[in-house]
Amino acid sequence: MSQATSCALKVLDLVPFGQDPNTSFFALRLERPAWERWKPGQFVMLRPRSFGLDLPWGRPFGICHMTPHHMICFFQVVGRGTARMAQLKSGDVVRAWGPLGNGFAMEPDTPTLLLAGGMGIVPFVGYAHTHPKPWNLSMLFGHRARLNCYPADSINERIPLDSLHETGDGDLDNFIFTLRERMREYAEQSGLVLACGPTPFLRTVQNFAAEFGVRTQLSLENRMACGVGACLGCVVNTTDAWPVEEKRRWPVQACNHGPVFWAQHVTLE
Ligand SMILES: Cc1cc2nc3c(=O)[nH]c(=O)nc-3n(C[C@H](O)[C@H](O)[C@H](O)COP(=O)(O)OP(=O)(O)OC[C@H]3O[C@@H](n4cnc5c(N)ncnc54)[C@H](O)[C@@H]3O)c2cc1C
Ligand code: FES
Repeated sequence: MSQATSCALKVLDLVPFGQDPNTSFFALRLERPAWERWKPGQFVMLRPRSFGLDLPWGRPFGICHMTPHHMICFFQVVGRGTARMAQLKSGDVVRAWGPLGNGFAMEPDTPTLLLAGGMGIVPFVGYAHTHPKPWNLSMLFGHRARLNCYPADSINERIPLDSLHETGDGDLDNFIFTLRERMREYAEQSGLVLACGPTPFLRTVQNFAAEFGVRTQLSLENRMACGVGACLGCVVNTTDAWPVEEKRRWPVQACNHGPVFWAQHVTLE
């Protein structure tokens, strides 16, 4: 894996998603960083110049997609940092530190189920586009905002994507039912399951992984500050199954041991 580097990247454009004047979803297209290589599931710490002195830390974002000329990150406005990012304009400069973390397993010949909740869809854009045998992939996506708020089309052009829009009572139960059935199918064909999304969603996936014994990886979105293992702000507890003897049941940093973990290796609080 290539070493993480820090570079200043120009904003090419910022495109609102969702066709709603008040949308809080954006695709941020930056110049391509000079990284030797990257892996879907890795992330980048972004810190626009406009963060100034009052927001000293960058913010972590999944690498959504990379072309020979640009890198795309996709974000939702949830607080001060992302609100300021939503003001970025072409030509503005963003400091990018990456690629960080480990990324998802890619086994081209294994049937692989991608499970995303909300913004957990982001790393699967790059995954679907770089997988050498996309016919071995399928995806289930649960979301609360309208589908056109997310980069779902970009995935759907490569692989089958089933989406479930949670709008009211019963939708979540339906989603969990479908999730369980799909995980059971992939367990029966010795497949691989990869999941990214909010912690309650990952916990559900983790429970079904244990029930069916299907190999499953989870990408955690713990809050992060430094992104490189120094501040201990992102730790996650490991289980007895953790492969390194002395680390069993000890917390590890999600930023540099993850953010992708095998489901049986971590405890989700
Ligand atoms: C590895 C990784 C990859 C990520 N990829 C993406 C991505 O591709 N797109 C995207 O929109 N977001 C992503 N996130 C989440 C993103 O980093 C946070 O939304 C962002 O840091 C919030 O910054 P803020 O200053 O706007 O919010 P703050 O002002 O810091 O916080 C505002 C609110 O957001 C919540 N929040 C902050 N950080 C997180 C987090 N990590 N997870 C969930 N809630 C959080 C806080 O609890 C608070 O309620 C990722 C996080 C990680 C760790
Ligand atoms: S974010 Fe600082 S140790 Fe992980």
